Amino acid sequence: MSLAVVIMAAGKGTRLKSRRPKVLHEIGGKPLLAHVIAAASKIVPAVDIYVVVGHEADRVETAVAGSGVNFVLQAEQLGTGHAIQCAQQAIADYDDVLVLSGDVPLIRPETIELIWNFHQSEDAAMTILTAVPESPQGYGRVVRSQNNPVEVEAIVEQKALTAEQAAIGEINSGIYAFRTRTLLKHLNHLTAGNSQSEFYLTDLAQILVEAGERVVAVPSPDAGEVLGANTIPELVALDATLRASTARRLMLQGVTIFRPETCVIDADVEVGPDTVIEPFVQLLGRTRIGSDCLIRSSTVIENSIVADNVLIRQSCVIADSEIGSGAKIGPFAHLRPGSEIGEEVHIGNFVETKKARLGKGAKASHLTYLGDAVVGAGSNIGAGVITCNYDGVNKHTTTIGEGVFVGSDSTLVAPVSIGDGAYIGAGSCITREVPADALAVGRSRQVTKEGWAANRRGRQKEER
Ligand code: UD1
Ligand code: CA
Repeated sequence: MSLAVVIMAAGKGTRLKSRRPKVLHEIGGKPLLAHVIAAASKIVPAVDIYVVVGHEADRVETAVAGSGVNFVLQAEQLGTGHAIQCAQQAIADYDDVLVLSGDVPLIRPETIELIWNFHQSEDAAMTILTAVPESPQGYGRVVRSQNNPVEVEAIVEQKALTAEQAAIGEINSGIYAFRTRTLLKHLNHLTAGNSQSEFYLTDLAQILVEAGERVVAVPSPDAGEVLGANTIPELVALDATLRASTARRLMLQGVTIFRPETCVIDADVEVGPDTVIEPFVQLLGRTRIGSDCLIRSSTVIENSIVADNVLIRQSCVIADSEIGSGAKIGPFAHLRPGSEIGEEVHIGNFVETKKARLGKGAKASHLTYLGDAVVGAGSNIGAGVITCNYDGVNKHTTTIGEGVFVGSDSTLVAPVSIGDGAYIGAGSCITREVPADALAVGRSRQVTKEGWAANRRGRQKEER
C-alpha cells in the first residue's frame, strides 16, 4: 500500500489581517506548517510529503527548507479542492493519500495514524477526521448518514448551514484520507457555486456518496488537537495549549517549573531532570538545559546550550551561547551570541559578553564588557574592565592567558594579549602586549599635595 501526504498551505490567511502568510505564523516558536510537517514526518510507515504552496510560495518554501518535503504550486488560490487538483500529478501513483491542513498544527502523529488505520479497515473512498469542540462555530459540519452512523452524507460549510444543520456539534477537522484512484476520478467534478466562489474539497463527500462510494468519519480522541488557526485569538489560544503541553512534558521528565503558565517555553526545548525553573522564564528556540540547574525568574535564554549544575540568577539575557557545568551567571548578565562560558565560570551582575571564551573557573563578577575575547582558566577580571574591541571600522581580539589578574576599571585596547600569570594594575589602559608573569600599570601617577584642601578652605573663608 503506497501512501502520500499532502499538506494544504497555499492560502493567504485573510482572516489573520497580517502581511505574513498564515502557515508561517508561529506557535511554540515554530511556524504552523513546520508543526504539521513534523507530525507527518513521524508517522509509521514513513511517507512522501507534498506541500501545496501558493501565496508567497518562495517565503513558505524557504521557511521549511531542509525538512525533506516536496512542493506543489497552486499559483492561484481557488479553494481547498483546487489545492488538491494542483497536486493531482504528484499523487497519481500512490494508492492512498492523506490530506492535512497547514493551519491545523497540533495534530499528533498518532492521530494521523488513527485516521489512516480507520480508512483502511473501513475500505472507504474518503475518511474524514472529525471532532466535537466546545464551539463548532466557523467549521464545516459533518452530516452523518441516518442509516449507518459511521458513514457521512455531506460536509456543510458554516456559511451554508441550515438551521437544523447549525445544531450539529461534529466538525470537519480539515484532515482526510482518500483512495487516490477514486479521488482523481471525481476531483474535477467540483464546482465553485458557493458564497466564496471557491472549489471546496469538502464538497467531495457528497459527490462521492452520490456516486455510490463509501465516505466515513472518525472522531479525533482530543478535540483540542484538531483546532485550526484562522484568526490571531485562535492562534494565541493554540500557542497557549502547545506551551502548556510542552511544560507538562518537561515536568513529567523531572523538571520543576513553578507557575508554568507564566513561562514561555518553545516546543523543541529540552531540559534535564532536577532542574528548577522559576516564574517568568523564557526558554526559546533550540535551547538545551542540563540537569540540576536553577534558572531564576525573568531570565530569557534563546538557542543556547547550558550544561549541568548551572545557576542562572534573575533577569539574564542569553542568546546563541554555551555555558559549562557549575557556572554561575547573573543577576542581570547579558551573554550575546558566541559566548562560550567554561566550567565553573562566574559571570556577575551587569557583565556583557560577546564572542568571548572564558576558561574553567574564570571570573568576571561586576560591570564588565568582554567582546571578541579569550580569557584563560582561573583568570580574574576586576569590576568595570572593558575590552575595547572596536576601532570604529574593525573588531579586534583581546587574548588573556591563564591565571591573569586584571585590576578594576582597566581598558584593554585590542588587538592585545596578556600572558599567563600577569598582573594588571587597577585603572590601567593597556595598549601593548603584556608578557607572562609581568606587572603592567598603565595610568598616570598619583600626585599628592599635603595640606592643599585645608589651605583652600581657609582661602574661601577670607573671601566671604
Ligand atoms: C476548512 C474546511 C472546513 C473545516 C476547516 C477545518 C473547506 C472548504 N473547509 O475551512 O470544513 O472545518 O478547514 O480547519 O475546505 N488552502 C490552500 N489553497 C486554497 C485555500 C486554502 O492551500 O486555495 C489551505 C490553507 O492555506 C489552509 C487550508 O488549506 O492551510 C485550509 O484552508 P482555510 O481557508 O483555512 O479553510 P477553512 O475556512 O478553515
Ligand atoms: Ca482554517
